[in-house]
Amino acid sequence: MEPGFRSSPSDEAQREARDRAVLRTCLPLPAALLLVTAVYATVRYVVFGPWPVGHIPIYVFNKAVSWTALTLLALALSLGPAARLWPARFGMHLWRRRYWGLIGFVLATVHILLSLATLNYAYQRAFFRQAFEFTPIAEFAMLCGALTWLVLLAPLVASLPGVRAAMSARYWGRLQAIGRLALVLVVLHLSYAVAGWFVPAQWPGGLPPITLWSALTALLALGLRVAARLRFGPGDMP
Ligand code: HEM
Repeated sequence: MEPGFRSSPSDEAQREARDRAVLRTCLPLPAALLLVTAVYATVRYVVFGPWPVGHIPIYVFNKAVSWTALTLLALALSLGPAARLWPARFGMHLWRRRYWGLIGFVLATVHILLSLATLNYAYQRAFFRQAFEFTPIAEFAMLCGALTWLVLLAPLVASLPGVRAAMSARYWGRLQAIGRLALVLVVLHLSYAVAGWFVPAQWPGGLPPITLWSALTALLALGLRVAARLRFGPGDMP
């Protein structure tokens, strides 16, 4: 449902108000997240870490893009359970899920393109046993990344105009539910970095790894879903 309207807006003023609300959902939060994560990644990898300034545009920025993508997807998948647990506070924001989910998906796709462009021995030495040969954990992580993207296609299709009306409520709900698997798969995608999570002495500038922040965000979103389910039973999330 669009913000503030029970049915399609009928006149120009209503359409303008709706488009303004959509723009306010799509621009400030994603832009602020990109900015904060880009600053964090630059401080961690360039200011305190060994990476030269010249690698900010792709290598460092890719970290901001993937972290922002994951945060937006986790937010989109958390709004349903949050609205169940605290309807007065979050119920009115449910419509934002669609936009944060879409932007998260687009940024995850950009992350994949940037990652494939830098997936070599020079940029990602930890992923390789030797030049041109991945370690088993790198292969596993990559497979989970690809599966994360694939399961996100299900809610993406469900959100297309007309799809809801053309499907039974039950199977449309199932299409949406497949997307929730992304939260588990993305944590597995980040498993390549677990070893570094427990060695704070090696964190540049004492800043925790982005993989750790990202995994915690996904686990928090999963925790919220479990809490809502335990409290209200397995019924459909709004
Ligand atoms: C074919 C699919 C994918 C591939 C090949 C891939 C590849 C990679 C690579 C190579 C890294 C390490 C980047 C680095 O250390 O600089 C990484 C990290 C990461 N990926 Fe993916 N990824 C995929 C899908 C996804 C998806 C769908 C998401 C969901 C948002 C995601 C989220 C992340 C996050 C949050 C990180 C940690 C960022 C960092 O610390 O660098 N990835 N991915």
